[in-house]
Amino acid sequence: MHADDLVPLDFHDPRQKALSYESLRKQAQALFDGERDWLANMAQFSAFIFQQLPQLNWAGFYLYKQGELILGPFQGKVACVRIPLDRGVCGACARSQQAQIVTDVHAFPGHIACDAASQSELVLPVMVHGQLWAVFDMDAPVPARFDQTDADGVSTLLAILVDASDFPEIGS
Ligand code: SME
Repeated sequence: MHADDLVPLDFHDPRQKALSYESLRKQAQALFDGERDWLANMAQFSAFIFQQLPQLNWAGFYLYKQGELILGPFQGKVACVRIPLDRGVCGACARSQQAQIVTDVHAFPGHIACDAASQSELVLPVMVHGQLWAVFDMDAPVPARFDQTDADGVSTLLAILVDASDFPEIGS
């Protein structure tokens, strides 16, 4: 798929949002068609989300390795490389393996400010064969950018990414 093939979507109208995610779901399936390399697909995924979702200033993965999170493929400003599990929104997501929807990052205890522009954040777990493989982090330069529709929509896209990719054994 060529970048110019991606159709711009309307996320501003809440009624259109779920439909937009449905369209993104079809685009994601086309994006990964014929490629199963996990790292290439994760890199494409971060670019796809950054390009297609409005009001983002950062989107990318932190990989879960040996008890901590390490920066993976991303789009946006340079970021902190290692995040211990007891720190940040990403650490909370990795510990709980639950979506973290943060409407105001300044009110989140232990939030790590990689980009001072970030005001709200959504972090989702990425599970491979039932085990935590990574978290996917999105930052927005506006408050309350993300809601449950975003969490559900991007989780579905992440599931497409995982299904479309081959991963090495965890721990290798
Ligand atoms: N804000 C995140 C850190 C990663 S950056 O936003 C890219 C956190 O609190 O875990």
